[in-house]
Amino acid sequence: MKKITKAVIPAAGLGTRMLPIARTIPKEMLPIVDRPAISYLVEEAKNSGITDILIITGRNKETIENYFDYSPEYESRLIAAGKKDLVNKLRQICEGVNITFMRQLETKGLGHAVARAEAFVGGQPFAVLYGDDIIFSKTPVVRQLADIYEKTGLGVLGVKEVSDELIMKYCTLDAAKTDKDGIYTVLDMIEKPKKEEIITNFAILGRVILPPEIFGILKETKPGAGGEIQLTDAMKILAKNNTMMALDFEGKRYDMGSKLGFLKANVEQAVINPEFGQEFKTYLKKFVKEL
Ligand code: UTP
Repeated sequence: MKKITKAVIPAAGLGTRMLPIARTIPKEMLPIVDRPAISYLVEEAKNSGITDILIITGRNKETIENYFDYSPEYESRLIAAGKKDLVNKLRQICEGVNITFMRQLETKGLGHAVARAEAFVGGQPFAVLYGDDIIFSKTPVVRQLADIYEKTGLGVLGVKEVSDELIMKYCTLDAAKTDKDGIYTVLDMIEKPKKEEIITNFAILGRVILPPEIFGILKETKPGAGGEIQLTDAMKILAKNNTMMALDFEGKRYDMGSKLGFLKANVEQAVINPEFGQEFKTYLKKFVKEL
């Protein structure tokens, strides 16, 4: 089966849940400790064997492109200050993978953003990493999903069980167990289900592998929930044709598109930071005790 070498990162959303900061700073550029969220996605893709990434951006998102560029003026100042090692570290951010950028022009939904990637993908299967879903795992999640694609040739959704309350905001999956632990065949999906419509509590959390057939389906997909072209509406067609799998992946996911998710990601990563984690933990324990 074909290897997955291309990935699309949709990062053009308005980020209304992260206002007011998201009006001027893209939520994908919000930091987890000292790196923007999107750089964790690029790392994950790189470590999964991806060689080409398309980042879909929009107006007010120029800082994303700048982040993945060299900075000659900054670098010459660092070299003059005898800090060449820092220059090398900065350059590593944009090396080892080809990154291209494209504007969505209009924010008409995740499905609309992914549809922009057709020429880039060039008839290959590809990975999608939702720009505000950060996942820390032993094996990068895109690699976990790609392993299944490369064996089966079918689309694969990265899923995790969530509460009833959350699944009603996401999409419930009708998923049947296979003989492999954690791997399911997806039969159907219902976007934003009512309580009585919940089939399973498996939600798609930010990673999917899609076959190129998705583009033909997206062209026919009408605006759905919120008046947006929903990627899940197109993926549902693949599910109904029995060509979609799901993996209950190993990893911890943070929703960087929500204020609470952003805060949790920062606190949890700060606690395990090799440089100051111990000090931060001591501070945090004392702080919580005094509450
Ligand atoms: P979300 O629905 O979480 O992003 O989409 P959003 O629309 O920015 O969120 P809110 O509700 O306004 O806070 C998941 C990913 O898809 C991208 C977003 O940038 C995010 O990374 N997206 C969404 C696009 O690229 N284009 C769109 O039209 C919509």
